[in-house]
Amino acid sequence: MAGKKAHLSIDGIAESIELPVYPGTTGPDVIDVRSLTSHDVFTFDPGFMSTASCESKITYIDGDKGILLYRGYPIEQLADESDYLECCYLLLNGELPDAKQKAEFVKAIRYHTMVHEQIHHFFNGFPRAAHPMAIMVGVVGALSAFYHDALMIDKEDHRKTAALRLIAKMPTIAAMCYKYSIGQPFMYPRNDLDFSANFLYMMFGTPCENYVPSPVLTDAMDKIFLLHADHEQNASTSTVRLAGSTGANPYACISSGITALWGPAHGGANEAVLKMLMEIGDESNIDKFIKRAKDKDDPFRLMGFGHRVYKNFDPRAKVMRVTCQKVLADLGKENDPLLRIAMKLEKIALEDQYFIDRNLYPNVDFYSGIILKAIGIPVNMFTVIFATGRTPGWVAHWHEMIGNPFKIARPRQLYTGPAMRNYPVRK
Ligand code: CMC
Repeated sequence: MAGKKAHLSIDGIAESIELPVYPGTTGPDVIDVRSLTSHDVFTFDPGFMSTASCESKITYIDGDKGILLYRGYPIEQLADESDYLECCYLLLNGELPDAKQKAEFVKAIRYHTMVHEQIHHFFNGFPRAAHPMAIMVGVVGALSAFYHDALMIDKEDHRKTAALRLIAKMPTIAAMCYKYSIGQPFMYPRNDLDFSANFLYMMFGTPCENYVPSPVLTDAMDKIFLLHADHEQNASTSTVRLAGSTGANPYACISSGITALWGPAHGGANEAVLKMLMEIGDESNIDKFIKRAKDKDDPFRLMGFGHRVYKNFDPRAKVMRVTCQKVLADLGKENDPLLRIAMKLEKIALEDQYFIDRNLYPNVDFYSGIILKAIGIPVNMFTVIFATGRTPGWVAHWHEMIGNPFKIARPRQLYTGPAMRNYPVRK
């Protein structure tokens, strides 16, 4: 494969242009078009449908086969055998930790779970009714004002400290967003608890009574974090890389990733799923909504269905589906009306020719939204939880980019506006 070339002939350019073609470990080859600019021509690919924006060794997706690998390991195996923090280590370092490395990593994360006390006051500036994503974007960006000691991004140890801080503090910040919105005191992290149990404790514990997180819910929370930990060059990760390519600090970069994640076509979908289920309201209305989803003149889409890359069952959704059933059984919520609508919707959509023809399977957000609702997490916190889980992926991509030669990301355009013209002389 090495040495493969593509040849491009363009009307008006006498010679054909030779372009190198690079193979990946797996997946499609890529044509290196960087030299095209010297021929005064650009490629045009809005939405990056056919563009590899970088070289990466972290995560691989085969959307046709429904495969997702973190550093080569299938997501189903990681969900069965591993846990979230081990996957964080894997994403950041490239290999699974041995027992000692794992213990050290877990200890390091625990050491960083608390946020600077001044950040508590920072929350007070937000209205109580603020969307928690709005608070999270602000607070994460503001972390750069608190942790000056490790902001020299060309130093690997500084980047690693920032990575640990972000992974460790995101659940604390997420839970603070929730506590602030309901007017309850912030709960300091408890480092005797595992990562996901501690998150549930900070969300649902109060200083007034002892809160013991249930093992089934803790396991479900850990799986949600693990399954969301990375997803290759998606919109938010690409945003983190783009911001990072300017040399911006890691907290600013991750904050920009959070903003990109917020949209309903990306991380906002899990919130949109629940809103859609509430709008459907009753099983008797499902057919009406399915009809709307198929109507080209109606902007309505079935939230939690379809994916830009997966044209097969999202492998994360398969794991989430099983976890979802366990959580509902554990909580005795199998007959919750919204959840019944969700299950019926899933069945109809999987059998409907429109969805079959377009490979529109339920995605991870469809089930994670149902689980989070069953656990008692309010709908407007769903994307905050996605952001918390996705942090190791964002940080790993940022770290990979900064640790290698890179250029500022600066796309070009097909300009179709007015040609140069003179400013009119006005009397
Ligand atoms: N409901 C109804 N029709 C749909 C849906 C849907 N959810 N998704 C795609 N379609 C149709 C679309 O109308 C088009 O039909 P046609 O070929 O007849 O014009 C066809 O399927 C292809 O759609 P597309 O818009 O070209 O596909 P895309 O790859 O650009 O969009 C998507 C992917 C995820 C934005 C889209 O499927 C969608 O809006 N889904 C709902 C939102 C959602 O659940 N997003 C979460 C994605 S998973 C989390 C993550 O990784 O961020």
